[in-house]
Amino acid sequence: EKIPATLIPGDGIGPEITEAVLTVLDALDAPFVWDRQLAGMAAVAEHGDPLPKPTLESIRKTGLALKGPLTTPVGGGFKSINVTLRREFELFANLRPAHTVIPGGRYEDIDLILVRENLEGYYAAMEHYVAVDGDPHAVAISTGYNTRAECRRIVTFAFEYAVKNNRKKVTLVHKGNILKCLTGIFLEEGREVAKNYVGRVEVDERIVDACAMQLVMNPWQFDVIVTTNLFGDILSDQIAGLIGGLGMAPGANIGTAGAMFEAVHGSAPDIAGQNLANPVALLLAAGLMLRHVGRADLAERLQSGVDHTFNVAKVRTRDLGGVAGTRDLAAAIAQAVR
Ligand code: NAI
Ligand code: MG
Repeated sequence: EKIPATLIPGDGIGPEITEAVLTVLDALDAPFVWDRQLAGMAAVAEHGDPLPKPTLESIRKTGLALKGPLTTPVGGGFKSINVTLRREFELFANLRPAHTVIPGGRYEDIDLILVRENLEGYYAAMEHYVAVDGDPHAVAISTGYNTRAECRRIVTFAFEYAVKNNRKKVTLVHKGNILKCLTGIFLEEGREVAKNYVGRVEVDERIVDACAMQLVMNPWQFDVIVTTNLFGDILSDQIAGLIGGLGMAPGANIGTAGAMFEAVHGSAPDIAGQNLANPVALLLAAGLMLRHVGRADLAERLQSGVDHTFNVAKVRTRDLGGVAGTRDLAAAIAQAVR
């Protein structure tokens, strides 16, 4: 059956890579029926608002969105679009898979996934300065918080993800030795949740600094990593670096009231409108969306189509050392998945 979903092409390279993704999804006969909506600079131009009401209403209705990159308007008092969307739809889990597609890089056969808590920690931005001896900014104070309920929810999400996707191990990443309360609560809940998965999913623990080192030394020891907001932000960019960078890294924001899929990269104004952008990050995000709606079969076809195009047909965009344009690559992948 058809599945209604919101489509936000976005800014900069957004429209080109979105068209490329639609070309491939058509070839796959993907089940989505798109409701196209505006956000970012395109929406500011049309409605004077980077996140207009019709866009929010559409996502509220469909509970499912594919979002191109948005240019954050500088100044003008606009709130962060991503933060607003996360809050509005309680998108508590940020999923960042890292999967090697092109062999011959520094790291071969990377296949891991990071689950980041998306709402709490230090991202509540409760910050202020304290004046001392006439210096108004002498001391900076930031308050972070993690709730037991949210720690339980994110770790449960990671274990459930592991079970459903045939993953063997979940690593809890924390700093419970120093941030004894803030991340200790996460570790405690993590250990509790893990008891429900004994014999099905192995549990492991790492202190975040050691984990960062081990991700460089031996990333193959990891399978699913779950961690709190700030650590997850940093480690998820680190794992994108293991697989060839921005053009290849998809992300998903999953919540109770909806799910939103996007590329990790931004609107790339330096190459926008030139048919140079690599659409694969957004395409793999669409693959995560297919899995999310229970069409792992199509997601797998999509993935092998990308694999075939890069490695057998050797059609690659400029960021990967090739000469293909965005549209050529889309056409090649579409042909491969048919
Ligand atoms: P960026 O990710 O847009 O670009 C960084 C570099 O990577 C550029 O040289 C760009 O050409 C290249 N690049 C990015 N994606 C590519 C692709 N698919 N194919 C080939 N090359 C690619 O980061 P930048 O320049 O810092 O940000 C530009 C704008 O994007 C800013 O307004 C920023 O706020 C916004 N942004 C939005 C995000 C989102 O909507 N999720 C995420 C990150 C940035
Ligand atoms: Mg980040």
